[in-house]
Amino acid sequence: MVEKRCFFVLHGQNESIARAEVLAILEAENMQFSDIEELCQVLLLDVSDFDVLQIVGLRASMSHYCCRHISTYPCDSGLILSMMRDVDFNRFVNGESFAVRVKKIKSNLSPEGKRMSVEGLEREIGAIIKKNTGLQVRLRNPETLFLGVISENVFVFGTVKAKVSKKGFLERRGRFMPFFHPGIMKPQISRLMVNLARAKRNTELLLFDPFCGTGGMLIEGGVIGCNTLGSDIDKAMVFGCKKNLECLGLVPRLIKADARKLPIKSEKIGAVATDPPHSRSSSTKGEKLEVLLEKFFTEIARVLRKDGYLSISVPDTIPLERIGEKSGLKLQELHKMYVHKSLTRLIGVFQK
Ligand SMILES: C[S@@+](CC[C@H](N)C(=O)[O-])C[C@H]1O[C@@H](n2cnc3c(N)ncnc32)[C@H](O)[C@@H]1O
Repeated sequence: MVEKRCFFVLHGQNESIARAEVLAILEAENMQFSDIEELCQVLLLDVSDFDVLQIVGLRASMSHYCCRHISTYPCDSGLILSMMRDVDFNRFVNGESFAVRVKKIKSNLSPEGKRMSVEGLEREIGAIIKKNTGLQVRLRNPETLFLGVISENVFVFGTVKAKVSKKGFLERRGRFMPFFHPGIMKPQISRLMVNLARAKRNTELLLFDPFCGTGGMLIEGGVIGCNTLGSDIDKAMVFGCKKNLECLGLVPRLIKADARKLPIKSEKIGAVATDPPHSRSSSTKGEKLEVLLEKFFTEIARVLRKDGYLSISVPDTIPLERIGEKSGLKLQELHKMYVHKSLTRLIGVFQK
């Protein structure tokens, strides 16, 4: 197998979660990867097929770019330009036009990295590629976009194969949906939860949210092609969730059910992504949250198929690890995400 090197440019906020999301997507898609290298906001790894880049571009919520790697250089502009004169860029271009963009990751930059000129590099690398390939420079919508990232003490260079679009996430925000309820997750975070649960696309395996509310997880799973099932104890939520899914052309598969006693046969669920009630706007219906979670975990350990994953978000005051492991599920990842001064999310990823 010929290994193909690629890199992902990650969001700066919650960088470790962004990295975990890319790795979770690769696992969900059964894509082999190796030789992981981590730089500030850049994740490099070897894959067997560059198609991975389109798939991560389709699924990810916390990455900016998915790129084919050409080379990594030290932060020395003179050296970079002289080494680039020996590269055959025809191997990396598509179509008739190209552009070069350089981004500087400001945190953790070495003194050499700080001194590098973004505009100077874009101009001079552009001139080398133009001479080498004979292609036209087109700054708007080029057919090939070269991207250089100055991170820590290196310059990572490659071509962009997929860009993560924010547009869909913005359009699916709660206030644009037919049924809205306060205190819901942003679509990007719901997508992250779906990815961390390693939800499979285009299979019969079900992605399940037993506290579905307005349907954030089911929408983000449905949009990428997961077969979804949702339930909620509140009839009005089930009804509203159905409206939201239908408005996006997604198939609503919903039941009114208590997550402490699910009307689902054992081992029928492929993955669970969920956001249990934790505030005044989404009440636990009189049950203490920790008790509700204990009963919920017992049910999930029963309905989840072997090796299936659960991703769950709770306030960071909850002893999630202890409650989860009591059910027999194994904690695989624990992430913290600051939301606002009265809420920091604890996101746990468990496996059966
Ligand atoms: C934080 S909200 C979920 C928000 C959801 N992620 C969304 O996109 O709207 C929690 C939901 O859990 C439901 N709920 C509360 N107790 C429940 C229980 N015992 N079983 C099932 N659902 C419950 C509430 O009705 C509420 O809709």
